[in-house]
Amino acid sequence: MIASIENLPRLRLGFYPTPLTEARHLSDTLGGPRILIKREDLSGLALGGNKCRMLEFILAEAKKRGADAVISTAGSQSNYCLQIAAASRKLGMRPSFLLVKHVHAETQGNLLLHNILKSDVEILEITDIREVFGDIISQKMNEVADDLRARGYKPFIIRHTIPDLSAILATVGWVNAADELITQLKDGNISAQYVVLANAGGATQAGLVLGSKYLSANYKVIGISVFQSEGAAVASVIEHTDAVSDFLKLGIKVTPDELEINDSYVGEGYGILTEECKAAIGLVAQTEGIFLDPVYTGKAMAGLIDLIRKGRFKSTDTIIFVHTGGIPALFAYQQEIVKQA
Ligand SMILES: Cc1ncc(COP(=O)(O)O)c(C=O)c1O
Repeated sequence: MIASIENLPRLRLGFYPTPLTEARHLSDTLGGPRILIKREDLSGLALGGNKCRMLEFILAEAKKRGADAVISTAGSQSNYCLQIAAASRKLGMRPSFLLVKHVHAETQGNLLLHNILKSDVEILEITDIREVFGDIISQKMNEVADDLRARGYKPFIIRHTIPDLSAILATVGWVNAADELITQLKDGNISAQYVVLANAGGATQAGLVLGSKYLSANYKVIGISVFQSEGAAVASVIEHTDAVSDFLKLGIKVTPDELEINDSYVGEGYGILTEECKAAIGLVAQTEGIFLDPVYTGKAMAGLIDLIRKGRFKSTDTIIFVHTGGIPALFAYQQEIVKQA
């Protein structure tokens, strides 16, 4: 493990390393390169996903500070907030969320699971998902914290913007994932040329790229944006890599020209299903028995499939597709998924 990570407080919430599995039938069907899937969806906590390893560091810090309540924000079907809620319950902390109404604010998918977890959820009459990074919701979270303090709690707020410590620790979790992946590749005698994953806020890709560069990995990381334009996504990743490289004293810098982020698969917008995403979800289920999600991994796989068809990779290449989870949201998208094109 990277020395400066080893010294950080960490709780065990997931089962690591997550499996790295061969997707032979998918790869044969596409007639393309070898594909392996890093099964972050099997991380263990509350139906899995990429957030669990972030929370091992973030909630350890919260506990260290004596917190017994956690507050955060995101879209109504947020996988992150669901993972925060489940982890909080496991650790005996009270979970509270301010969620942007956005798409699918009905009690389905992740909101159904919040209902079971008895999370405090307030759905805000805001539909612009970018507000989760803005001042209005940040201030509202402070008010929720004040209210909890008045009732005797010690709240900890998880924000998603650098330089907030929770955003830094989220990325640290994925620097560590790079270390895990590189070890798995070495142990399995696998030489991978590419790692493909979904990119939204950028913390996951930032951690993976930073850790991979620090550990001199040979593969190129390709982010498929599901949220922002390429320029904005690159800027977000760099903001994270700069801050986390400093935080961990890695002494390296990731530059924009080292990043590859493709924004061609967002479709009409974040959280809006595309036909290609629906087809990718179907193909992976029907070839591998693995479910992708409609917001992140389905679009990332749609991107990978399209790039394979366009000849972006050699047939001898090995690609690691990171399944970052998100499966609960699939149930909220029932209507779009069963609808005939
Ligand atoms: C299932 C899933 N995949 C990928 C991502 C993208 O992660 P990041 O925001 O770190 O880019 C998220 C984040 O919300 C997610 O829930």
